[in-house]
Amino acid sequence: MEKLIIRGNRPLRGEVTISGAKNAALGILPACILSDEKCKIENLPNIKDIQNYISILTRLGAEVDMLSNGRTCIDAQKINYENTSSAHEEIRNMRASYYLIGALLGKCKRVEIPLPGGCDIGPRPIDQHMKGFQALGAEVYIEGGKVIAKAEELLGATIFLDVVSVGATINIMLAAVKAKGVTAIENAAKEPHVVDIANFLNLMGANIKGAGTEVIRITGVEHLSGCTYMVIPDQIVAGTYMLAAAVTYGDILVKNIIPKHMDPLTAKLNEMGILTEEYDDAIRVIGKENPKAANVKTAPYPGFPTDLQQPMAVLMCLADGVSTIHENVFENRFKYLDELRKMGANVSVNGRTAMIIGNGKLTGSVIKATDLRAGAAMVLAGLAAEGKTEIMGLNHIDRGYEDMEEKLRSLGADICRVSAKEDADEIDHEVC
Ligand code: EPZ
Repeated sequence: MEKLIIRGNRPLRGEVTISGAKNAALGILPACILSDEKCKIENLPNIKDIQNYISILTRLGAEVDMLSNGRTCIDAQKINYENTSSAHEEIRNMRASYYLIGALLGKCKRVEIPLPGGCDIGPRPIDQHMKGFQALGAEVYIEGGKVIAKAEELLGATIFLDVVSVGATINIMLAAVKAKGVTAIENAAKEPHVVDIANFLNLMGANIKGAGTEVIRITGVEHLSGCTYMVIPDQIVAGTYMLAAAVTYGDILVKNIIPKHMDPLTAKLNEMGILTEEYDDAIRVIGKENPKAANVKTAPYPGFPTDLQQPMAVLMCLADGVSTIHENVFENRFKYLDELRKMGANVSVNGRTAMIIGNGKLTGSVIKATDLRAGAAMVLAGLAAEGKTEIMGLNHIDRGYEDMEEKLRSLGADICRVSAKEDADEIDHEVC
């Protein structure tokens, strides 16, 4: 087991380049299953979730060539739904494995996989995914901890999602691209990665219109060819580094991003009195002491992303006055606040609303990452805090952040990773 040791309270300054979007790549990889040729994917982030997905595809029968610099060539023609049993453990351990249902249903008309896992942030049903597959003509049921879906053929249909779901929108899109006729997904998610996956499928020859709006129309095609595609930059990782500048009162140029995707965060930072400068593919954030308190309500895109509410809470701890977070997307995404309390945060939770009374400082403590974005929040808290912070649960952080320590070190952070068994007090000064 490993832990991070951070000596905080130093402003981060410099430039950081953002890697490809995890949640886009996690849809693009299974989308390759639908192609009848090789696909070359560029800008894949080097993170655990992507490594696991590639391992799943390989076990299913895909030929994967890992090229340099985040480029991968995938030939999924030999993938067979019967091979999923060899990847049960990996499938069970990640959320995005649910895209195998849409992709394998689209390719093989049959799939049987364990229910997906993922971050523990409240109930995460897949009823809207199942409703979509059923509307397309599949028989879908859950039995013995597995999702089983089969169809003679898939026929286009109109599906109205009861909740705006990123996963259901993408999954239904995957199943529908080769279905006969026209499928309409109404009340669809509009997240940048939904659009990215639709763009990838279209480049392969799919006919998807309206991605990024509330109604996506998919006219089924018989054949998808190969292509070369570059994954968009990661909106949430970019937001994490923007907040790193804010919480350390530093000055960071966050590069290789799509500034438009950052609007909800940029606007909130500005509201808190933090300066930002926007460029074509970068945003500079100039932190300041005692930012103003703010209220955040998470919502599907283009609202404030639920994946950034945990990192944002750290800034609120440092703000002047009372801030609130209303979590509209997931039922139980406040567990990490117990860890921030250990660092002196004054927080209370009432249902889906957290109240944070900022007192301008956090103090180092021993804390743990309870999920991926909670992990990012813990790192930000450690960077902002006075004294030494030790963070456990790095497996969560490694799922979604490429080279996080190196990137932070290059910005001036005092951060290092040690084996939790080692006596960090003796060695960490040499290693950091
Ligand atoms: C995706 O999860 C992301 N995961 C999450 O990222 C992200 O937090 C979330 O979208 C919201 O943006 C991946 O892309 C792999 P949803 P997903 O379906 O698809 C309810 C991260 O840190 N719902 O949009 O699982 C659901 O319970 C992660 O990178 C149903 O009720 O989220 C939730 O309340 C964590 N029935 C809401 O909809 C369904 O069938 C939105 O969930 C599906 C969802």
